[in-house]
Amino acid sequence: MDEDRFLAQTKRPEDEELDLTLRPNTLEEFIGQKKLKENLWIFIEAARRRKEPLDHTLFFGPPGLGKTTLAHIVAREMKANIRMTSGPVLERPGDLAGLLTNLEQGDVLFVDEIHRISHVVEEYLYPAMEDLCIDIMIDKGPNARSVKINIPPFTLIGATTRSGLLTAPLRSRFGIVERLDYYGNEDLAQIIHRSSRILKIEIDPAGENEIARRSRGTPRVANRLLRRVRDYAEVKADGRITTEVADQALKMLEVDHEGLDPMDKRILDYILRECDGGPVGIGSLAVGVSEEAETIEEIYEPYLIQRGFLKRTSSGRVLTRRAYEHFKIKPPSQTEELF
Ligand SMILES: Nc1ncnc2c1ncn2[C@@H]1O[C@H](COP(=O)(O)OP(=O)(O)OP(=O)(O)O)[C@@H](O)[C@H]1O
Ligand SMILES: [Mg+2]
Repeated sequence: MDEDRFLAQTKRPEDEELDLTLRPNTLEEFIGQKKLKENLWIFIEAARRRKEPLDHTLFFGPPGLGKTTLAHIVAREMKANIRMTSGPVLERPGDLAGLLTNLEQGDVLFVDEIHRISHVVEEYLYPAMEDLCIDIMIDKGPNARSVKINIPPFTLIGATTRSGLLTAPLRSRFGIVERLDYYGNEDLAQIIHRSSRILKIEIDPAGENEIARRSRGTPRVANRLLRRVRDYAEVKADGRITTEVADQALKMLEVDHEGLDPMDKRILDYILRECDGGPVGIGSLAVGVSEEAETIEEIYEPYLIQRGFLKRTSSGRVLTRRAYEHFKIKPPSQTEELF
């Protein structure tokens, strides 16, 4: 797949650096997600007063909404060290045991993509989370025996884009489960405003709103578009981002007025033209648009559903009337029945 064309794609190497510069450091600096912040603030404050680590916490929601950022913020607010790992890296129990036994009192262990840890590792995680101990097998054959090792009180923070793929026993071991939702335009405009100041980009409020509206409700996309629009403003205008400059730049990037990018449009277009509006199964859709089913389910579909372009039914994905309107095509009569 052409990596650069699709703006909604997950993280790219160039994002790493940008993420670090633009990442809010405190809960106060973190924009939006009001309810989540309120909850988290109370839990953090209570844990601090009791001088205990925060309960194990799970953040879930689409990519680029701030899960990793929040994990860092929690560690900072708790004045704790953070150790980072991710599901796919933890293959064998030994990988996890190494991390756990090196934890210090109150540390935060951040496991990104926690839905991807292997089953054996998951089994190891249970007693660690619940009873602060793990059983390690030493020796082999007839001498094999298990030794119990205690772990200091710690906070596990898990992040996942696919909470549905988490097993029930794992999910139930998190005392705090918080979902991140797509951001509203006002919050995104504020994020763009903040990023512009940090990156010293000249932008007027209308320009901020224009980029906000077209950022798929996602801070990472907003920050990425902001940089691209800045490039355009520097080369094609006087460097200042106005509505007009933003609009022209985003058109060039093939981001439409609803923030749909070429892949979003390809998905809708395929269902519209090749499947008569659906229903279509995820497998055929993936083949039809030459994208992995997992990527469609994780990145594209949630936004299209949230914005009301697509609906999931028991027989597959179907276009909504809104999608037909977007393409300025008259919906077939049976679509009406879906509403
Ligand atoms: N609420 C926010 N306020 C300001 N900036 C934010 C906010 N949330 C996210 N960002 C910005 O978006 C970037 C992406 O956020 P982050 O890496 O935390 O997302 P994520 O949910 O972990 O994504 P992924 O699922 O791909 O790992 C951050 O670097 C930060 O600059
Ligand atoms: Mg992350």
